[in-house]
Amino acid sequence: MTELMTSIEQIVRAAGDMMRTAFNAPDRPAYSMKGQQDYLTVTDGAVEQFVREQIARRFPGDGVLGEEAGGLVEGPRLWIVDPIDGTANFARQIPHFCISLGLMVDGVMEAGAIYEPMHDELYIAQRGQGAWLNGRRMRVSTIADLKASTVEVGWSTRIPLDTYLDMAGKAARAGCSVRRAGSGSLGVAYVAAGRTEAYAEAHINAWDVAAGLLLVAEAGGRINDFWANGGVRSGNPVLVTNAALAQEFSAMTGIGLLP
Ligand code: IPD
Ligand code: CA
Repeated sequence: MTELMTSIEQIVRAAGDMMRTAFNAPDRPAYSMKGQQDYLTVTDGAVEQFVREQIARRFPGDGVLGEEAGGLVEGPRLWIVDPIDGTANFARQIPHFCISLGLMVDGVMEAGAIYEPMHDELYIAQRGQGAWLNGRRMRVSTIADLKASTVEVGWSTRIPLDTYLDMAGKAARAGCSVRRAGSGSLGVAYVAAGRTEAYAEAHINAWDVAAGLLLVAEAGGRINDFWANGGVRSGNPVLVTNAALAQEFSAMTGIGLLP
């Protein structure tokens, strides 16, 4: 494995250890609310700080954009980190959350990893080298029938409720199993792993999907042009799918896909 990929794996595993320790502590993670259904724990900030320190030490001069502390989007190399994606699950003692860490070079995702500490699952990819889950090559599913498919539709208060209900309703009426598990990063990673056929959300931030978009592309799936029109700064709609149902999910959600 290259030094880059070794570093990414070491950083996300150590960050995952911090989350697992906090999750299992007798005094459960205390949380505050940033807004409606928008949870924050001290662990979010502590993990992001740890990741920033690691990147500064291992890759001095690289930029970092993180969910909690923000950051400037400038320079050729930008690390994009969500310290805990699925914070509401983490705060509510639901073991479905992760760290997402990706490296963008000259506007293109070069490498990324998602680590889900409670099941010790490491999803990792490098551009042109494939995507791997705990050492096994990932491939998107081959399911080609919507009535056998599963799609996760993400939701946040950043978009009107009707937009979400409309998207989820269309999928349900088409015969999909529709789910929402509360971590966009893991929702995207599940498509790469062939566990679901699509993840869609009308607006999501770069830190939620930077690593996941690379995972899906490297696993043979389809992704939208998330980085267009300032996606790194202000987010965009996201759609990732398996190859077999790409057209169907694109038509259903109104989100175009890259070739
Ligand atoms: C959120 C989760 C959620 C997605 C939202 C994200 P957070 O991130 O990924 O599933 O629907 O768009 O903001 O708050 O858990 O870090
Ligand atoms: Ca997030």
